[in-house]
Amino acid sequence: MSSSSTSSSALLLLSFSLLLQIAIGASPLFHICSTSETFTAASTYASNLNKLIGSLTFRAPFTGFGAASVGFKHDRANGIALCRGDANATTCKTCVAEAGGEIRQRCAQQKQAIIWYDNCLLKYSNTDFFRKIDEQNKFYMWNLRNVSHPASFNRKVKDLLVELAEKAHVERRMYAAGDSQLGGSKKLYGLVQCTRDLSSIDCKKCLDGAIDELPSCCNGKEGGRVVGGSCNIRYEIYPFVSSA
Ligand SMILES: *[C@@H]1O[C@H](CO)[C@@H](O)[C@H](O)[C@H]1NC(C)=O
Ligand SMILES: *[C@@H]1O[C@H](CO)[C@@H](O)[C@H](O)[C@H]1NC(C)=O
Repeated sequence: MSSSSTSSSALLLLSFSLLLQIAIGASPLFHICSTSETFTAASTYASNLNKLIGSLTFRAPFTGFGAASVGFKHDRANGIALCRGDANATTCKTCVAEAGGEIRQRCAQQKQAIIWYDNCLLKYSNTDFFRKIDEQNKFYMWNLRNVSHPASFNRKVKDLLVELAEKAHVERRMYAAGDSQLGGSKKLYGLVQCTRDLSSIDCKKCLDGAIDELPSCCNGKEGGRVVGGSCNIRYEIYPFVSSA
């Protein structure tokens, strides 16, 4: 989406990369390796981490979320995997497995890491981060195209996402997607989601925080995302959520 553009050559590139993604699997949106603590390939942490990723890949597809810990004391690896609320078990499993392989390569030596895809996120750490809002790991994405009436558009984006946040934080899956009218036949589509280790109150807090950041990334943009380690929000002017 950050690569969206109005020029036809860029559109061609975009559709080419979409084809490529279907052929070889999705590529990550972003990843962060923490720089503080490291481990070696032959360590106990490495073996715990591999078991953890295996466990999360097994668990997450059943409900779209998995949390697990493997090992003891400073060698303990804690992790979560969250699949997008509309991803089925197959999509979820494929995404988490891919994420596990990719993050182990990209952050080969860091004990803490997170990687995001369209359909899932995978995060692990040697510290217990469960039930805490992740304030560190975050990025934005936006569509390069501007809307013609930013003030009223921004208000509609916020209204929709606030409404979805109200729904999601009391849902078992902490997920909500929906749409609203933009005038004419146009619609606005939104999605919000929290990792399910959070309490309902913290999910709401996390989503409200993400919505408050929209002006920093996505002011008057046709699409935008605020993506974090505990929650994420997204809006587009085209449907992007699977209804099945
Ligand atoms: C899961 O979703 C993907 C993508 O939407 C779809 O292609 C696939 O057929 C679905 N699989 C099942 C088993 O429903
Ligand atoms: C959108 O608006 C910004 C700020 O006014 C401008 O810098 C940018 O070039 C515009 N983008 C497009 C694709 O027109």
